[in-house]
Amino acid sequence: MTATAPTPTPDIAAEPRALLELAGIDPARLRALLADAASVLRDPAPTDALAGRTVANLFFEDSTRTRLSFTLAARAEGAEAIDLTSAGSSVSKGESVADTARTVEAMGVAALVVRHRSAGAAHVVARAVRCAVLNAGDGRHEHPTQGLLDALTIAEAHGRLDSFDFSGLRIAIVGDIASSRVARSDVAALRALGASVVCVGPPALAPDELACLGCEVSQDLDAQLADADAIQMLRIQFERHDAGSGGASPVGSIHEYREGYALSPERAARMKPSAIVMHPGPINRDVELSAAVADGPRSRILRQVTLGVAVRRAVLRASVHAAEGGAR
Ligand code: NCD
Repeated sequence: MTATAPTPTPDIAAEPRALLELAGIDPARLRALLADAASVLRDPAPTDALAGRTVANLFFEDSTRTRLSFTLAARAEGAEAIDLTSAGSSVSKGESVADTARTVEAMGVAALVVRHRSAGAAHVVARAVRCAVLNAGDGRHEHPTQGLLDALTIAEAHGRLDSFDFSGLRIAIVGDIASSRVARSDVAALRALGASVVCVGPPALAPDELACLGCEVSQDLDAQLADADAIQMLRIQFERHDAGSGGASPVGSIHEYREGYALSPERAARMKPSAIVMHPGPINRDVELSAAVADGPRSRILRQVTLGVAVRRAVLRASVHAAEGGAR
């Protein structure tokens, strides 16, 4: 009997038609996407690069900025954008994500933008279809376009738009790292570009095991303030704790949390003059971030939102063209 060689698992995350995660991404691909987004920033005029195509947002979880940003990005490249949400679709009748994705693809869409509460959902979709697939956030796993837009924000603020070489920059990510797909994508992108990254939070939200992502881990925000070139503040994702812990809060009281980890005006005053403050949104004002800092001179929070459209234009273009070029 002849043994059949096992079929190697194709590395779907490396396919240029899909952007599923930034962990392990080829730094050349990362820099090419960022350089393309920077060129959109220099010339934001609409194009017809995706004329005649339709981009479908499959959002099985709530979103404000990511969904609207993908819609505006698709339109700016000449495509149509359509939306499916789980309420009011056959998802509520028990259809699987893969079947929903195949159904929408069969209508002739060029790209599926997927947000889902389960880690790996975008990978499942990418395996089920042949069109472009973009992960817009899967559970606690990754949110790659957010990682790209955060990297672009830092590059712009620190004069690295030509090289995307982040050597010498130190970035602190503060808050609920354990629940955060944004933190995972940020660490992957920023490390790949050469920055040093520290994740900061109380032990329940920033456990030491996070070091396996390639970052440092600290429980002392005050000790990090003077060295950071950018601080990304994160929301406490209470809704994800509820799912895992039967409702028990791992952070104690909000008052205690604020004492240790909120970015107050006093703390912001101890940052380097050139250092910026970021937040992926949605902000819980005066919980993780003082309103005065969110609206203050260091804040790049709305700039992140603006740059998100440029990033998504670049990513949509690259992935749809790759899918059409048969890069599978
Ligand atoms: C985040 C998300 O949904 O992952 N927001 C975003 O996409 N900008 C973070 C959050 O929900 O706190």
